[in-house]
Amino acid sequence: MQYAHITGWGMAVPESVLTNDDLSKMVETNDAWIRERTGIRERRIARENEFSSTLAVDASLKALEVANLNPNDIDLIICSTSTPEYIFPATACLIQDQLGATRAGAFDLSAACTGFIYALNMAAQAIRSGSIKSALVIGTETLSRFVNWKDRSTCILFGDGAGAFVLQASDNPGGVLSAVMHSDGSGGDLLSLQGGGSRYPATEETVHDGKHFIRMNGHEVFRFATRVMAHATHEVLETADLLLEDIRWIIPHQANIRIIEAAARKLKLPMERFVINLERYGNTSTASIPIAMVEAVEKGQLKPGDKIVMVGFGAGLTWGALAAEWTGPLPPSRKVYPRQYQAAARLRSIWLRIVRFVEGIFWGRYE
Ligand code: ACO
Repeated sequence: MQYAHITGWGMAVPESVLTNDDLSKMVETNDAWIRERTGIRERRIARENEFSSTLAVDASLKALEVANLNPNDIDLIICSTSTPEYIFPATACLIQDQLGATRAGAFDLSAACTGFIYALNMAAQAIRSGSIKSALVIGTETLSRFVNWKDRSTCILFGDGAGAFVLQASDNPGGVLSAVMHSDGSGGDLLSLQGGGSRYPATEETVHDGKHFIRMNGHEVFRFATRVMAHATHEVLETADLLLEDIRWIIPHQANIRIIEAAARKLKLPMERFVINLERYGNTSTASIPIAMVEAVEKGQLKPGDKIVMVGFGAGLTWGALAAEWTGPLPPSRKVYPRQYQAAARLRSIWLRIVRFVEGIFWGRYE
């Protein structure tokens, strides 16, 4: 029997900080309102040369270093994102190329803020089935590119960032223990970004109507979130045959402190049992859970042997939870050089493009 252990982790956020005071110069709002209603103080905003893939690559390299793996040790890359760089190719393929993960299959997963839980579960299932040995699971977002900076009800909430986990097969029990995934598409209109897809391809009219911006019914999303967080937590514990008392940390999606407080009340747990960092990053959607976890590990809060529950909700509507036992890196078997590998990957990518171009000149015609 194979178990899927989380053996590497990394995060990356843009350096550029946007505070509540900065926002109050852009829309009619103020620091006190935002902090009281959401708990957010500031968020990170990607610069022009930062994208969902570049943040993901930064986070992934750190995760590979922790796991003591080279990019070509990875069998599968799942990139969870709602802000892919293109409709296609998949952002996961851009990451695969930038890392030089030459053996990996790569695809994007779209389940909004719940995406990281879905992706982790998919990768863990692939490992447990024996079909792969290692996976890189990434949550990455550049939501700032899709926020209407004139809409005070949404622009205060979101931020950019990425988190990545390496999952590896091991005979030792532990790692991902159980997961639950849910959806309710009847609530799709409560939180959406409609422009640029096949229903509303980009036209002057769609841009004029602001269809390329995030639209949200905050009240309804809030109500939905407070309903599902505690329920999904109980459900995942039941499937893992665990009790709430067995759990050291709950890592919730970092959307709004009031949503987390409501979940804590329903679970009858003190807030100290929740990992929370939304005050510094805002809602980074699918990246929020891995970023919060990486910070918790780096602060020494999360220790090997700790049992944890990640729980999230988001557009779709989607929601879900995943229970895991934290293990840490497997014993190193050799020295690896993921960063040097990545530098070589750039040259490899350029070389492959040149070869393709030359081949196209000589053999590209169909007679
Ligand atoms: N600054 C000042 N006032 C504001 C602001 C603002 N930024 N935004 C709204 N207001 C005003 C409203 O206009 C309203 O005024 P009115 O009473 O005169 O009409 C008043 O403040 C109260 O507004 P509400 O919408 O009732 O405020 P609420 O307490 O519900 O908070 C919020 C709004 C923060 C958006 C909340 O509803 C929320 O967090 N919802 C969940 C959103 C969420 O988590 N989304 C992400 C989901 S995950 C994903 O998939 C990306």
